[in-house]
Amino acid sequence: MTSLTVIGLQWGDEGKGKIVDIAAAEADAIVRFQGGNNAGHTVMHGNAVFKLSQLPSGILRPGKQAIIGNGVVLDPEGLESEIESLRRADVEISPDTLAIASNACLILPLHRELDALRERLSGAARIGTTGKGIGPAYEDKIGRRAIRVGDLDQPDRLTAMVDRLLDHHNCLRTGMNVETVPRDALLATLGRYRSILAPYGAAADERIHAIAAGGGRILLEGAQGSLLDIDHGTYPFVTSSSTVAGSAAAGVGLGPGLLGTVLGVCKAYTTRVGEGPFPTEQDNADGAWLCERGKEFGTVTGRKRRCGWLDLVMLRATCRLSGVDGLALMKLDVLDGLKEIRLCTGYGPGDEEAEVLAIGQRMMAPVEPVYEVLPGWSESTEGARKRSDLPAAARHYLDRIEEITETPIWCLSTSPQRMNLIRCRDEGFFR
Ligand code: IMP
Repeated sequence: MTSLTVIGLQWGDEGKGKIVDIAAAEADAIVRFQGGNNAGHTVMHGNAVFKLSQLPSGILRPGKQAIIGNGVVLDPEGLESEIESLRRADVEISPDTLAIASNACLILPLHRELDALRERLSGAARIGTTGKGIGPAYEDKIGRRAIRVGDLDQPDRLTAMVDRLLDHHNCLRTGMNVETVPRDALLATLGRYRSILAPYGAAADERIHAIAAGGGRILLEGAQGSLLDIDHGTYPFVTSSSTVAGSAAAGVGLGPGLLGTVLGVCKAYTTRVGEGPFPTEQDNADGAWLCERGKEFGTVTGRKRRCGWLDLVMLRATCRLSGVDGLALMKLDVLDGLKEIRLCTGYGPGDEEAEVLAIGQRMMAPVEPVYEVLPGWSESTEGARKRSDLPAAARHYLDRIEEITETPIWCLSTSPQRMNLIRCRDEGFFR
């Protein structure tokens, strides 16, 4: 078996959708292992733009298996509208090509409501979530009271499960002065979810193992980014799942030895959406340039993304966290035309003590980024076919990234289009 795990190395929105879409050409199955519809993966084919949220980006490749693994929290209503909009664009989705793990937990309307209520009540201490109910859904999973995809087929047990779930949620809602949820209303919602999901419910791990046993290639598609990881990220300003490569094994039911190559995706600069620390943020003309040229507005919520320089302290650490074999460096073209470009190579005063901390905790302290200032380039990088075709200053920028992160760049993206990807390595992505 050969496989490839694709993860984000920053705070999400790195461009994983494009990389997965390209790598999917070489895969037999594409599998999501964590997160939910907080993800927004954009893929462009010519003039057509596809925005994927819960479906693996590989669904756009005819004949491939798309699998939603057990580590995902699934919103059936969101999935239904995503399937409908892809079908309108002539993408084929059927039980033969899409399978959903029966042990994946559901996102329910009460999770979305709780997410919104909490954010509203938190005022300045809010996380800036996507409002999709991700945190509350994972809380119920860990609290052992979630409803899972396979439970929908067990009407005899479902009423007792709903009662248990509502005991918890109605207590919270009463405390927050919100109407309680009646059991019958939730059972009716679950009945509708059953009809949406019934064609796709499957023992996803069995399907993956069957593909692997037949010599197939598995592509594991991560969502969000390493600094949003529940353990390693800038806690509490994180998402509620594990976004590092290691979680792919548990999130689909594969042995850790079968994750294959780890490809880490990062932008040529940094962005963040939502609250939380961001040492290299540029709340100035440089940040505005990156935002405008990079079209940095959220796929899921439409929020303007915060922008700043590439942080190599972070990148070196997140490469290590996931044992990254190679980098996919995205949006290099956004830097075209800048007179000078900064690379953060260290955190100044105060960081000596924080060095004992995990990278996410280090960032929670007020650190002063130390920058290496590099010359920019005036030429366009878009459409370059080889790394050697790039302007000398751009090549120097790439060399410094590799030297400091101690990780080779395997591919470079210079526009959203599929064709604008420079492969820097002769071998394929899979191992
Ligand atoms: P949640 O995942 O909706 O609970 O949001 C928690 C934090 O993660 C917020 O700062 C969100 O903006 C951020 N976040 C969640 N998903 C994504 C994503 O796909 N891209 C970028 N940021 C995300």
